Amino acid sequence: MTTRTRILTGITTTGTPHLGNYAGAIRPAILASEDANADSFYFLADYHALIKCDDPQRIQRSRMEIAATWLAGGLDVNRVTFYRQSDIPEIPELTWLLTCVAAKGLLNRAHAYKASVDKNVENGEDPDAGISMGLYSYPVLMAADILMFNAHKVPVGRDQIQHVEMARDIGQRFNHLFGNGKEFFTMPEALIEESVATLPGLDGRKMSKSYDNTIPLFTSAKDMKDAISRIVTDSRAPGEAKDPDNSHLFTLYQAFATKAQEAEFRGQLLEGLGWGEAKNRLFQLLDGQLGEARERYHQLMSRPSDMEDLLQVGAKKARAVAAPFLAELREAVGLRSFVNQAAAPVATKKKAAKAARFVSFREADGSFRFRLLAADGEQLLLSRNFADGKAAGAVTKQLQSGDVLDVRAEALSFSVWLDGAAVADSAEYADQASRDAAIEALRAALAPIED
Ligand code: TRP
Repeated sequence: MTTRTRILTGITTTGTPHLGNYAGAIRPAILASEDANADSFYFLADYHALIKCDDPQRIQRSRMEIAATWLAGGLDVNRVTFYRQSDIPEIPELTWLLTCVAAKGLLNRAHAYKASVDKNVENGEDPDAGISMGLYSYPVLMAADILMFNAHKVPVGRDQIQHVEMARDIGQRFNHLFGNGKEFFTMPEALIEESVATLPGLDGRKMSKSYDNTIPLFTSAKDMKDAISRIVTDSRAPGEAKDPDNSHLFTLYQAFATKAQEAEFRGQLLEGLGWGEAKNRLFQLLDGQLGEARERYHQLMSRPSDMEDLLQVGAKKARAVAAPFLAELREAVGLRSFVNQAAAPVATKKKAAKAARFVSFREADGSFRFRLLAADGEQLLLSRNFADGKAAGAVTKQLQSGDVLDVRAEALSFSVWLDGAAVADSAEYADQASRDAAIEALRAALAPIED
């Protein structure tokens, strides 16, 4: 059996994708999903969007625009599991299970939270001013996104590496606490694509909405053309040689050109191609590559219910993985149905019988005693004192023989008798029900192992 690599990433739905998002994240993710070895899970992180944005219109518009962008960009939903985070109720449920094991100190160290605190302190405000629990717990929700599907690789930007590490940390802790030797969660790894272009924006700084220097992706050819016309260049006139290696217009061209196109464009710039014409060439290149996808994008945006259908199929696929896994995790932490509880002691009986153990020791006065410990280490019995080790050994042997135990209950404790004498005693219990449960546990621990 070949196990495919599970690649998972989320896109926070707060903005409209621009050319930089396309070249830096969307295009490489779609390409990666076409690899036969890839099992890709891509989703709209719309719960994460609520942390940063309280404008419902904007949230909704962005969800639609981002879904349409990925689909128009060629994402094949038959190959990839493409869904909205908010369509998977198992994710917030897992978030809570993880919240209960995540160390607060770990979250105190999250960059995004720390940056907000630092800013508040700098401004002389309360350190937590304006910081929601959503922002604070952001990494736990992200850990649930990742761990829910046991992702191997998580393609993210550098600013997200810490969050993937926290997912490992939290997952490991859960495994340790509840796994009983079983690793529920796969340890994810952040995947940073070094080769992927970080596109420069109109002014040459990294293309980013916060710098207001973006080139729109699918809105319209005219918008794209207008933005390109605002790319900052040097003042060399037509006919003067341009320096391609110091031109972000050339860098943008490069990110979408074949090697041959790139070489040709470089030659023409060196020969003095005017900037106006160069911008034209860039527009032609982008329009040639993105024009059809733009058509598809507008079609999708005009029929959102078609997208809804696709996303519902995606949610179904994702939940087919998430629901049974979450059921296992609920079981592990002790959130279990009451229905099968009658049968449960049978299982514990065998386990306890295998694992219960006698521990002997000597008192200061030289007498010999032993304790009987249950599988979980709880003390079931403490023996009386025996003059020699041999006598104590004979008693433990008899207790293990499988003979019916002579247990005599007193008020809130009990003792075990052999041949007319008490040989060992229980602790004092809080009430009779606990005492009786302990007697049951003792009988189970000493019952012969049946297979
Ligand atoms: N926090 C990520 C970002 O802002 C988006 C995201 C949410 C994500 N959940 C994720 C990315 C799970 C990878 C895996 O970029």
